Order: sequence, then structure tokens, then C-alpha cells
Amino acid sequence: MTTVSHLECSLCQKRFPAGQVWNLCECGGPLLVRYDLDQAKTSWNRAWIPNGPASMWRYQPVLPVRRPESIISLGEGFTPLLRARRLGQHLGCRDLWIKDEGLNPTGSFKARGMSCAISMAVDLGVKKVATPSAGNAASAMAAYAAAAGLEAHIFMPRDVPQANYIECKAFGAHVTLVDGLISNCGRIVAERKDQEGWFDVSTLKEPYRIEGKKTMGYEVAEQFRWELPDAIFYPTGGGVGLIGMWKAFAEMEAMGWINAKRPKMIAVQPTGCQPVVRAFEENAERTRFWDDAHTVASGLRVPKPLGDFLVLDAVRSSGGCAIAVSDEELLTAGIDLAGRQGMFAAPEGAACIAALEKLLASGFLKPDEKIVIYNTGSGLKYLEAYSTRFPRSTAGEQDKLGGLITPR
Ligand SMILES: Cc1ncc(COP(=O)(O)O)c(C=O)c1O
Ligand SMILES: [Zn+2]
Repeated sequence: MTTVSHLECSLCQKRFPAGQVWNLCECGGPLLVRYDLDQAKTSWNRAWIPNGPASMWRYQPVLPVRRPESIISLGEGFTPLLRARRLGQHLGCRDLWIKDEGLNPTGSFKARGMSCAISMAVDLGVKKVATPSAGNAASAMAAYAAAAGLEAHIFMPRDVPQANYIECKAFGAHVTLVDGLISNCGRIVAERKDQEGWFDVSTLKEPYRIEGKKTMGYEVAEQFRWELPDAIFYPTGGGVGLIGMWKAFAEMEAMGWINAKRPKMIAVQPTGCQPVVRAFEENAERTRFWDDAHTVASGLRVPKPLGDFLVLDAVRSSGGCAIAVSDEELLTAGIDLAGRQGMFAAPEGAACIAALEKLLASGFLKPDEKIVIYNTGSGLKYLEAYSTRFPRSTAGEQDKLGGLITPR
């Protein structure tokens, strides 16, 4: 059972009752879900978690859904945390781990956020949902809305990876391709939602996606037997996964599950869209809009993250940093990872490998530190991006569909 108590504005700390539909606070601040962690501490024990489902819903007491029958699950979360021995040896890093979020439903960690948000939509009686998306959140929302029988409206940039478009259409969502970025898509949803009766599931304008994403933080603690690593690399677009993990660590400490030690939180962005890195380097509390955002890591093409102040706060108070890598570097790192570990990562996850190389070279990280990389998605969703490295020369027999098994 959930121990949810209320929601709280992350900017002005105003309280809002649970059990109602909310978007942002009047002051513009994103709302965060709060739990009665004293109650959770006495009524729940971390030793019981392995008895729960093999999904993120094993942490149900710290997730907001009130009625278990509202939960829409496709098996999201509880992803493997794999030791990357060969890559670690190559990079000079003895204790390297990768959390493979590419194994989630719809091939990315966005499934966690959407499982929670759509379950809450069901719990609160919402019938129509809408979201702007860089791509993967759209696929995930379309899948969970289909499973819940909700009407889904999706707005995403025209040049999103083909996989995202096809998935959304196959899941039966209403898809609009927009000539612009996720920020333009967000504006359209904001303008039309009241008239259309949509619940706006834009990241952080809706308080529940972050709750699903925070389970990445619970899982890494559980998988390392309640001791956090020295550093966590997170590919940062909106930064919601990073904010969510930071929130999870605070909740776990309040329940007495972990101590005060925190990993250095490292936000990784592509050079073509790095508002968080710029703000980090300028010592600013908020980001400035990044003009002309472009990158093959389409999930990181977020020119002005709504929760920038929360990302920057977590990065700074953890003693971490924000760092950018080029598209060339991240694609090379993705192919290197594939060849050394048998894992085909999304360009977003691959960006973290390129960033790790830089931070080992600069001495920011030491070879014996325990390091976790979040590979947030599957490389299979980015065939256009990787195909630039593996062009097929001439159309041979083998390129024809069924060509290999057709008798000559
Ligand atoms: C594969 C992938 N990684 C990372 C991100 C960035 O996520 P966040 O909003 O948590 O920074 C996205 C967002 O679309 C994504 O699709
Ligand atoms: Zn507020």
C-alpha cells in the first residue's frame, strides 16, 4: 500500500492534497510527491522487497498509486546491473557497472515514468492523456495508454527516430509530427489541453513520471546491497531521472535503509545541446535556452529543462559535475561498448561512456572508484544514427527481404 501523504511545490514548498489531478504550482514550480516515511519505516522492511514483483512495483509503498488495481504494468524496471569488465579494463576503471535500461518495455527507461503516470491517470479517473516528447516518452506513453484503454495524443519533432513514430502509431496513439523541438511540442499541448480535455503528461508538469523514474535509484541501492556507488553517470535531457534518483536516495536515508554517503552525480549532455553543462560551468542556478539544439542522441535534445535547478542542485551537492561529449565521440563509444560488452546502447547511454573516458583522463575519477553508467535505452531504437557508421554499400542479394532463405 502507498504511504503517499501530499504533494509539495519544489520552488515555494506550498502543499497540495494527494488524490487529485495536478500539474504545476501557481508559482511555476514542479510538484513533488511526499510520503509518510515514518509510517513506511515501521510498516515496511527492505528485506521484504525480494518478495514483491520483479518490476519497479516492488517499491509500491513509495509510489503514489492508491488502488493496486489501477497499476498498469508491462514489466518495467528491475533491469540488470551488469559488471562491465572488458570495457572497464580498456578504460582503466576497475569497478565499472552498467544499468541496462534498454531492456524495459518500449526499449527505454521512459517506461518507468509512464507506468507510474498512466497508473495514476487511471487511479484519478483521467480518460485522455497528451504529451510532447523527444521520442521515447511518446513510445512509452502510447504503450501504457493502450494497455489502460486511454486515448493518447502525442506531439513530437518530425525528425524523431523512425522507431518512435512507428511504435506510437502501432499502439494506436494520435500522433502529430511538429516542425520544431520538444519545446515547440510542449507549447502546443499547453495551448490545446483545456479545450480538448487532455491531462498534460509533460515531464515534471505532471508529478508522477518522476516517481516511476526514481525507482532507478531504489534499484541500484538494492542491487548493491544498500550501499551506493561512488559515481553515477546519467544522460541528461530534462534530467528527471537524475532528480528522481536523488529524491530516492533521500527517501531511503529517511527510512534508515542507506547512510548519508551519496554518489557523485554526473550529468552528461551532447555538445549540440548542453544547457545544463553551460549553467554548471557558469555557476548559475538555472539554465538558459540552448539555441539551435541538435544531436543524434534525440532524448537529450531538450534546450531548456523545466527542472534545471533541481538537476544542478543534485549535481553540485553530490560533488559531481556536468560534461558534454560530441556526437562523433558518443557514437564511437557506443560501438566500442557493443564490441566489448555485447550491449547495444542508445546514443544517450553511449554518451556516458565517452564522458567517463574524459573524467578518468582528467583525474576527476580514480581507477578504483565504483562507477555506474545508466544506459537509458536500446541502440535498436536508433538505427538511423548508427547506420551512419555502418553504411551498406551496394544493394546485394542479402539486402532483399527474405533473400537469404529464398531458394535460388
Ligand atoms: C534514451 C533516453 N535517455 C535519456 C533521456 C533524458 O531523460 P531525462 O529527462 O531523465 O533527462 C531521454 C529522454 O527522452 C531518452 O529518451
Ligand atoms: Zn510553488
